Amino acid sequence: MPEADKEGERYQADKPQAAPGFFLKGSHQLDWGMKNRLARTFNPASGRTVMLAIDHGYIQGPTTGLERVDLSIVPLLPHCDALFCTRGILRSVIPADSTKPMVLRASGGASILKDLSNEQIAMDMEDAVRLNAAGVGVQIYIGSDYETQTIHNMTRLVDAGLRFGIPVMGITAVGKDMKRDAQYFRLACRIIAELGAQYVKTYYVEDGFETVTASCPVPIVMAGGKKLPELDALTMAYNAVSQGAAGVDMGRNIFQSDAPKAMIAAVNAVVHQNAKPKDALEIYKTLKPKG
Ligand code: R5P
Repeated sequence: MPEADKEGERYQADKPQAAPGFFLKGSHQLDWGMKNRLARTFNPASGRTVMLAIDHGYIQGPTTGLERVDLSIVPLLPHCDALFCTRGILRSVIPADSTKPMVLRASGGASILKDLSNEQIAMDMEDAVRLNAAGVGVQIYIGSDYETQTIHNMTRLVDAGLRFGIPVMGITAVGKDMKRDAQYFRLACRIIAELGAQYVKTYYVEDGFETVTASCPVPIVMAGGKKLPELDALTMAYNAVSQGAAGVDMGRNIFQSDAPKAMIAAVNAVVHQNAKPKDALEIYKTLKPKG
């Protein structure tokens, strides 16, 4: 039996239940688990993320700065919003008592010795669930010989991710001889979003990056690329978020910096507080003596 009528006032029937939207572009109609994982990956206060990308070993082995992930990356964990890594590194090196969201590389099968675009799905979604992943990432090579194969890798992961509530990050990968311009990235990002990825990782381009973010209906995070001088990397991150990116998924420009902790602090200031590149560089310089 329901409780007595005198309890009626506890129901506050005059107050409609809130129906909040969701802070991330294009994500408002997703299911709870998917949204919750996105809200752990992207900071709901800023709507952005500083994801630390350390998956490079999946194609190139012990990359400079990642020779000893236990020594170089684990100390950075408290300073990122999420880590992008392989399940091998996760299980072997990343402490399971970390509460950081882990986004797992789910494609592979190629190496720098051969055609990188010849990838397959390299992880079952069930394992992502077992590892409590906040998402998975998959490379898509639009315009390559393996275009269809890599798109198919993604769409299969998207279907599996929808079954389990795990978001898929589609990554625009660029072949050696392909042009990195806004026209290409508009094409690649849009295809990835249309085919179901919940967010997209892509490179920054000087001209027209805002058209890449504007025409992509889901959040875009910026990949860092090769190591640049700190001010250049901070400027690139600043420009990317100012032009619509929902944060960064940066690797080499953080872990190959002379002072990775100082650099990630500077990137955090740019991404979450809109710090100007020169001010962020001052943060880097101030913290650099501490590493
Ligand atoms: C991308 O697909 C790679 O595996 C990296 O995750 C990505 O390139 C980001 O790292 P970086 O900032 O070093 O380019």
